[in-house]
Amino acid sequence: MDKNDYSITGKAKIAGVMGFPVAHSRSPLLHNYWLRRYQIDGAYVPMAVDPLGLPSALRSLAPLGFAGCNITVPHKENAIQLVDTVDELAKKVGAINTVVVGEKGSLAGSNTDVYGFTANLEGAGKAWQKKKPALVVGAGGASRAVIIALSEAGCGEIRLTNRTNDRAITLSREMQPHVKKITPVAWQDRDDAMKDCALLVNTTTQGMQGQPALDVDLRALDDNALVTDLVYTPLHTPLLLEAKRRGHAIMDGLGMLLHQAVPGFEAWYGVKPVVDDTARLLLMTDIMNAKIPE
Ligand code: ATR
Repeated sequence: MDKNDYSITGKAKIAGVMGFPVAHSRSPLLHNYWLRRYQIDGAYVPMAVDPLGLPSALRSLAPLGFAGCNITVPHKENAIQLVDTVDELAKKVGAINTVVVGEKGSLAGSNTDVYGFTANLEGAGKAWQKKKPALVVGAGGASRAVIIALSEAGCGEIRLTNRTNDRAITLSREMQPHVKKITPVAWQDRDDAMKDCALLVNTTTQGMQGQPALDVDLRALDDNALVTDLVYTPLHTPLLLEAKRRGHAIMDGLGMLLHQAVPGFEAWYGVKPVVDDTARLLLMTDIMNAKIPE
């Protein structure tokens, strides 16, 4: 699209992302691409907000005329306490990543990571047998959204394993009311726990650029199980490469990043954007060209 097709006027709808640091966020790239693509008079800006400044930054959205914002690391859990309403999914997760400013300036928080994870996996079609058990590796913030997404999608059993066993036990207990069945699996038993699973999800930071590969052995995993990684730098983590080598269907983490952005964009700018190959390629190129270590 010709850059000259697009301009921001005094009536532009404004949104952005609050994080600390925020420079690594690909959200400005993605949302501004969609704004141009749909010829919307709007802008999306990065906002480096330190934790102490978060309450006043959020309360400034309405007076500044913002339509809302995304919330990223490290604010997702704190922000839930600072908005006026929180939807049911976000309450279950215990974190928000999207804020929409209401007509009277009220702030509505939601968690679109849940939608992003599911929408990405839906692209896998039949490869994901939802009723069968899923093994989730990791018990941090990302794991919480994945657990709720799996549960909402009808997953029959979630097995949760984490290097620090206590965190898996605590999170399983916390998620119990929201899921059909969740069982903590001791870290040393993680490979055996893959038996009968239709899905393996890495929610840890292992496999990320500069980090060692996730230490798992896929031998016990059913041939038709799907393997997915939330890490998207690199796009094909050692886990995904090994899964592919073994013949498993794989799903990289970039799709979740793209899909989680959809509900916010639609709420702020009034158009539901399409996650297509162009959007994917845009982010992929940016990630591959990144000069700073991820
Ligand atoms: P996030 O909120 O993004 O999920 P986090 O809360 O820092 O981030 O969690 C990171 C996850 O990666 C945790 O599950 C962590 O395991 P611990 O609870 O034992 O710290 C996991 N992780 C980090 N380094 C790891 C390693 N070397 N091996 C296995 N898991 C690791």
